[in-house]
Amino acid sequence: MDTPHSAEAAADRRASNTVTAVVGLAVVALALVFIFNTNVFTSNWYAFFKWVHVTGAVIWVGGGLTLTILALRAERSSDPTEMALIARQAAFVGERIFAPVGLLVLGMGIGMVVNLNLDWGTSWILIGLIGYAITFLTGLLVLGPQSKRVGQLIDTQGPDAAETQAAIRRILLIARVDEGMLLLVVAAMILKPFT
Ligand code: HEM
Repeated sequence: MDTPHSAEAAADRRASNTVTAVVGLAVVALALVFIFNTNVFTSNWYAFFKWVHVTGAVIWVGGGLTLTILALRAERSSDPTEMALIARQAAFVGERIFAPVGLLVLGMGIGMVVNLNLDWGTSWILIGLIGYAITFLTGLLVLGPQSKRVGQLIDTQGPDAAETQAAIRRILLIARVDEGMLLLVVAAMILKPFT
């Protein structure tokens, strides 16, 4: 049976979900208006692909940078519980948000190259493709399995155990290198060097 407290919490949750949905729909609707009213791009499709591509990159790279900053802060405070919390949150967003959004960024990038008939051998496009391949393989072969191991270590040995903390530090360090590489891809996309 619902207690007054749980009924109130459910109502709050519904209100929060409604606001999130309204904000999300408003952003998409207005962005579509912008897409159909821009003269900067040769086609509406290209404008759409670029909007999704760059928005995805903002979510992916910006989200990763925020996690990096939080991880550095936790490392400085030497608080094992905070480190464990960030490792768990990084594992969650890495798998559920960054991986699918990264795929969307790749798909829209390919869409733009095809739409404008760009040369696949152009340096900044190659840098994007190689960068994506590296980050995909790092996630699949290193970060994914390692974050599962960290989760198990937290459950079995506890967040304070030396082995758990060492594994967390290692995974956060690898994620930091990955983030640096993504920031380099962003620089290549913006500056289009060697062309
Ligand atoms: C690691 C993944 C990637 C990230 C983080 C990323 C990020 C970005 C960003 C921030 C821009 C905006 C640059 C600007 O307008 O000045 C951009 C543009 C673009 N990206 Fe990517 N990108 C990635 C991968 C790719 C890939 C793999 C391709 C091709 C298959 C690609 C194709 C393009 C194209 C065609 C543009 C538009 C360039 C323009 O209109 O001047 N991107 N990307």
